[in-house]
Amino acid sequence: MTILITGASGFIGRYVCAQLTRDQQPVLAMLRQPSSQLATLRRQVDALGGQGDLVQAIQGDLDQPDLGLDGPVPALEAIIHLGARFAWQLPMAEARRTNVDGALAVARLARQQQTRLVFISGFMLENLAHLARLGIDLNSADKTDWQQVYRRAGGYEASKLEAAIRVREYAREQHLEMVEVQPATVAGDSRTGQLDHQQPLYQLLDNLARGRMAAIPGTPDHWLPLVAVDLLAALIARAALAPATPQRLLALDSRTPSLQGLLAHAAPSLKRRAPTRFLPMGVLATLLRLPGLPRLLNTWPEALHFIQTTRFDTGASDAFLATQGLTHPSIKGVITASSHFYQQQHSPATQQPA
Ligand SMILES: NC(=O)c1ccc[n+]([C@@H]2O[C@H](COP(=O)([O-])OP(=O)(O)OC[C@H]3O[C@@H](n4cnc5c(N)ncnc54)[C@H](OP(=O)(O)O)[C@@H]3O)[C@@H](O)[C@H]2O)c1
Repeated sequence: MTILITGASGFIGRYVCAQLTRDQQPVLAMLRQPSSQLATLRRQVDALGGQGDLVQAIQGDLDQPDLGLDGPVPALEAIIHLGARFAWQLPMAEARRTNVDGALAVARLARQQQTRLVFISGFMLENLAHLARLGIDLNSADKTDWQQVYRRAGGYEASKLEAAIRVREYAREQHLEMVEVQPATVAGDSRTGQLDHQQPLYQLLDNLARGRMAAIPGTPDHWLPLVAVDLLAALIARAALAPATPQRLLALDSRTPSLQGLLAHAAPSLKRRAPTRFLPMGVLATLLRLPGLPRLLNTWPEALHFIQTTRFDTGASDAFLATQGLTHPSIKGVITASSHFYQQQHSPATQQPA
């Protein structure tokens, strides 16, 4: 039986397709425009060591009622829901339509199909102090003032939090088998460093490389937890197929260095000196209220939420990884590979003519 994947054309999605098809698992990608997207996805999957010809497509859109599917869905082994709109400054209505209503439509499909839902949320769902500061009631979505949460956290993060809480509730009520994978910020491929330019880590490396980071946001204890995309894809594939999985899997490498360490590790590959001074988060957040400054610094206030001092308990997820014969690759190696990849993309030999 096949596995339906939303967001298959995205950065994580194509790695998941490659991981599954490498193990001979057929995949049904829900794509908005299969006529133009499927051939590209198959090529990308082949290039990542998967089997592109095991990827089929169905047309669907998270923004359409009941996903606007263009045909019947075959019997499924599982559904992996990765599709989401990611952008800073996302208006609440848009973020909600795709990321919350779309996620609930996918959960309804999983229930109709009587199949496991692997739902991709984010590591901030485990930062309980942060959720409390935002005013989120984890036990009841309807008791939370979501307008306030969207104002405080921004459309992307707020919609991801709301989606997870509402889909959890739906799964509980409907006895839907659900595994929630909670990725940290995604880093490049541990072997090649491959990282899409829209990815938040790529943007951070870009800021460092372009000399936009004169100081380190926060304190020596602040960090941006990371996970390598290939390890994450392997974990998501196992979450879909393993007979027994924990209900939540935190995909986060607890050995990720502090932000200071991350920048120091990346800087030599980018031929830059790493910043050594710190800029308190409150000061940076205030500065970023100045019109034009976020764009100039390529840093949006809502992105700062992901850089905190909170540490996470990854014991259950690491134990699951071990049962699956998986381990996190060296995260410092992943940071170096990602930085090399960035640098190669910007070397004169690989620049596209204007
Ligand atoms: N990257 C990270 O650091 C990170 C960390 C934690 C969690 N996550 C979560 O992981 C998931 C995948 O992230 P990613 O980094 O792979 O994102 P990505 O590269 O931006 O991919 C997003 C995917 O969602 C699809 N999509 C967007 N709007 C859609 C719609 N209306 N209908 C159907 N599909 C739609 C896109 O399809 P098109 O190709 O048609 O645009 C694309 O395939 C997201 O849920 C994200 O919140 C990511």
